[in-house]
Amino acid sequence: MAQLWPKSTTMFTAKPPPPLATFLFIIILCILGFYTLHYAHSPPPQQTPLSNPQNALRFRQDFLSTASNSTVADYLRALTMHPHLAGTKPSNETASYVLNHFTGLGLEARSVPYRALLSYPAHSSLAAHFSNGTSADLPLAEWRDRENRDGVVRPYHAYSPSGSVAQAKAVFANLGRDEDYRALGRAGVNVSGCVVLARKGPLPRFAVVEKAAAHGALAVLLYAEEEGEGGRFRNGFERGTVMRGMGDPLSPGWAGVVDGGESLDPDDVDVSRRFPKIPSMPLSTEAAETLLGSLGGALAPAQWRDSLPPWLGRVGPGPTMVDFNYQGENKVATIQDVFAVIRGREEPDRYVLLGNHRDAWTYGAVDPNSGTAALLDIARRFAHMMRLGWTPRRTIVLCSWDAEEFGMIGSTEWVEQNLVNLGSKAVTYLNVDCAVQGPGFFAGATPQLDNLLLEVMRKVKDPDLEDGTLYQKWTAGNSLNTISRLGRVDSDFTAFVHHAGVPSIDIYYGRDFPVYHTAFDSYDWMRSYGDPFFQRHVAVAGVWGLLALHLADESIIPFNYLSYAEQLKVHTEVLSNSLDATLSVSPLISSIQEFASAAKKAEIEAQKLREQESSTSESVTLKKRALNDRLMLAERGFLDADGLVDGRHWFKHLIYGPPSDPESKLDFFPGVADAIYRSAGMSSRERQALIQHEIWRVARAIQRAASALRGDLT
Ligand SMILES: *[C@@H]1O[C@H](CO)[C@@H](O)[C@H](O)[C@H]1NC(C)=O
Ligand SMILES: *[C@@H]1O[C@H](CO)[C@@H](O)[C@H](O)[C@H]1NC(C)=O
Ligand SMILES: *[C@@H]1O[C@H](CO)[C@@H](O)[C@H](O)[C@H]1NC(C)=O
Ligand SMILES: *[C@@H]1O[C@H](CO)[C@@H](O)[C@H](O)[C@H]1NC(C)=O
Repeated sequence: MAQLWPKSTTMFTAKPPPPLATFLFIIILCILGFYTLHYAHSPPPQQTPLSNPQNALRFRQDFLSTASNSTVADYLRALTMHPHLAGTKPSNETASYVLNHFTGLGLEARSVPYRALLSYPAHSSLAAHFSNGTSADLPLAEWRDRENRDGVVRPYHAYSPSGSVAQAKAVFANLGRDEDYRALGRAGVNVSGCVVLARKGPLPRFAVVEKAAAHGALAVLLYAEEEGEGGRFRNGFERGTVMRGMGDPLSPGWAGVVDGGESLDPDDVDVSRRFPKIPSMPLSTEAAETLLGSLGGALAPAQWRDSLPPWLGRVGPGPTMVDFNYQGENKVATIQDVFAVIRGREEPDRYVLLGNHRDAWTYGAVDPNSGTAALLDIARRFAHMMRLGWTPRRTIVLCSWDAEEFGMIGSTEWVEQNLVNLGSKAVTYLNVDCAVQGPGFFAGATPQLDNLLLEVMRKVKDPDLEDGTLYQKWTAGNSLNTISRLGRVDSDFTAFVHHAGVPSIDIYYGRDFPVYHTAFDSYDWMRSYGDPFFQRHVAVAGVWGLLALHLADESIIPFNYLSYAEQLKVHTEVLSNSLDATLSVSPLISSIQEFASAAKKAEIEAQKLREQESSTSESVTLKKRALNDRLMLAERGFLDADGLVDGRHWFKHLIYGPPSDPESKLDFFPGVADAIYRSAGMSSRERQALIQHEIWRVARAIQRAASALRGDLT
């Protein structure tokens, strides 16, 4: 039906036909008419029937029926022709590609530049000298043959300091955690003066490097164990950033604008404190095994052995010696965030944001352009719906971020620059990073969005089932499939949730793909392994776009704070079980009760207003707007002006945020997790006071959210 539209438009505007033809014309009109009138093309009257529930439903069906795996595949191929590391010319070309795509669809679009300190490698080398008298340059085959052909960046860690170390003993520190160094200590191993070899585990890269530095290591080699696809990609190197914290290091907490604006000196202590003190580089699994297999010295601690290959008997130090040399350069570059805006009709000043980053370490077929391809396809389908007469109730913004790989820089700078407007007008942020990494659907959300997420999953076909929806697979007894929370810092939702308190969702297909951040993350890998028919891309785009349509079009924002209250109760129980009896979670329990009763009241109110869906009276419209504002602002209540402690005051959210101890068992209440961690060596009195204070801070945050949801002054 959709394709008939242009023809019928022509009919409406043609000169009056002769009488006989008029009859035929009327018949054709009767056939097409009902449909076309509903999708009226001309500007509708103020109180438009377009946003009535039937129409919203019809447009959602239109959205689903215009899915296409071949357009997604085309976009992905175009985006991944060349590596496009942030701040480079090919990266600027992907920005143009996205911008042209948006404008070509007739959407209002723009790119917004920021200045940021990025980091690139200049030279690097690595050689091992084995006890049998031979030496080897460690193989960089993954990169060498592509460097000349395509300009793939050599394996490196962004923001590693430059440095070289000659003839240092190699030593293996397992996952580089505190407990690993304790185990080494018990085995009589001292890593001081050595090059530490570590494998990627629960710690972020910067934490692995910092802990090695704290134990006196001179440099770090970090590898990610990969066996995927028959070991075919074992010579891939996982690039990555070793900067701690979020956003441009020269403009911490404010936007690094291009024309003027405060910018710290790169040598400022506040800048350098975000970078490790010793250099590091990534290593391929293959090269790591050559090194590990050559180590003598102490026996591997017993508690590591279960997770190590059986041939790895000894951990050094030595006798293998390493020559390590890394020379990098940090330099200020211009990055580009690209936006398309679909203005809302009734509530243009309320925003539903969809975001994905565009920059990649190499070709970025999975990370992140599977998500970009999905975003571009959503733009195509939304533009099509607009031609059929759809305008969302609220404004939809499609965001294509730059420099995420360096520390979520593009999204962070933008959120910092727009903080007040986002704080007062952003309804939800919907993030997709690596849209497709393999099989299985995964989702994270702030809990008021759980119900909507599940509802949308009932509408989208599971590409890996003969016949069935994502929801059917999700509920089919796989205990892995629970909606995770967004406490971690690993994609662009961070600034939205942790800094601005905007309810958010993060969705993806598959996890832990073997070519992560390597030169093998290409269109060919996606075609061969990740998503041969691009149907998983279609599923992600389906969930993502439908979420946006519900949030942008429903007259009452589809949030359910009762599930937030339930989740807070569960968090409190988990916390309570991990604390000793001298500490009390009762402040939490009573604030959650208050929050739950506000949620219940809001739910009843929403139900009443939904029953008056078709009312156009001003008082109903105002009531809806007032309730929506409370629903939108409740999440902001969880923000605390002081934020987290220990120089992490940028993280304002007290329910979800990163704990300073990356190994913390609590993935909620980050302030409480920090207090537990920091108080480890204190007297029990001090310890109790510190933790109890943080519990009170969370309780007050929950009260603020409850109060925002109720909306009354005390
Ligand atoms: C590409 O870079 C140039 C020069 O910095 C800039 O003027 C242009 O806007 C960039 N393109 C996009 C799409 O951002
Ligand atoms: C490790 O060796 C360094 C340098 O020899 C020394 O200063 C340090 O105290 C040693 N650490 C331990 C735990 O023995
Ligand atoms: C020397 O030792 C290294 C590391 O164990 C090994 O890869 C290499 O094959 C050995 N070379 C000879 C000639 O034994
Ligand atoms: C799209 O999906 C169909 C059906 O699964 C498949 O035959 C076709 O090859 C796919 N197209 C692309 C570009 O993968």
